[in-house]
Amino acid sequence: MFKPVRKAIFPVGGLGTRFLPATKAMPKEMLPVVDKPLIQYAVEEARAAGIEEFIFVTGRGKSSIEDHFDYSSELKSALHSKGKDILWRLVESTTLPPGKVAYTRQPEPLGLGHAVWCAKPLIGDEPFAVILADDLIQSDIPCLQQMIAAYQQVGGAMVAVMEVPMAHTDRYGIVSFDPSHAATGSRRLVKVTGLVEKPRVDLAPSNLAVIGRYILDPRVFALLDEQKRGAGGEIQLTDALSGLLPIMPFHGYRFAGRRFDCGDKAGFVEATVAFAMSRDDLGDDLAARLRPWIDS
Ligand code: G1P
Repeated sequence: MFKPVRKAIFPVGGLGTRFLPATKAMPKEMLPVVDKPLIQYAVEEARAAGIEEFIFVTGRGKSSIEDHFDYSSELKSALHSKGKDILWRLVESTTLPPGKVAYTRQPEPLGLGHAVWCAKPLIGDEPFAVILADDLIQSDIPCLQQMIAAYQQVGGAMVAVMEVPMAHTDRYGIVSFDPSHAATGSRRLVKVTGLVEKPRVDLAPSNLAVIGRYILDPRVFALLDEQKRGAGGEIQLTDALSGLLPIMPFHGYRFAGRRFDCGDKAGFVEATVAFAMSRDDLGDDLAARLRPWIDS
């Protein structure tokens, strides 16, 4: 039996420059897909996977994320006095349990590896998850829940993976892997043999990309302590993960579900349409309204 995965890190320190001016005074993680901020989807996925402690690595201008997950007695009384108790229950469900949430700062945007390293004192000696809210995944079973079920069989370190167009390898961490299913005995698990951050197309070992869900061993912090700069001059999580390969089982998990790149404008709009279309209260209406656009 492996230790349970109880804690998750949410790196939310990024500047969100791709969404300016929307992100001038608002964290990109608070941009709503339909009626829920991106970060709430990430937190709900973690909760569904059994995560009990929520660690946000924030930066300047991100305090609305803290308020979002806080209890709001003003809203409670306002909604209650108007008889809007169903709406209050919806709002109340976004509150994270007291004592189970921590916010720590990444003082400078030095990279994803650095953001994760900033949470080191809050993790201790146990496995933990990392969720990147930009990668929104629509699935029957939440992606992290799928991964934790697989992790309980194999332990070690695990990253979510999916095939991306070969021309896009320079946007992702890319893995090399043992292609035989026999290597893991599972259709979804691949044995990772190498990782490289954002390789040029001609240097990419494959088109199997890391998507923003990780289950990591705390030994990764010793590697991040080195603070080595990698691709783009940043302290890359991918580089530290390479250092785990010789010391523990390392798997890629081909999740079931559809991933949207919400760090990209087109991906964000696509996610908004897909999530709205899948809703009972919106899908039919939206389909009717979009029809003329699709037909023209
Ligand atoms: C990060 C990681 C990268 C991963 C990607 C997934 O990159 O560094 O390895 O493939 O997330 O979305 P970013 O998108 O933050 O540049």
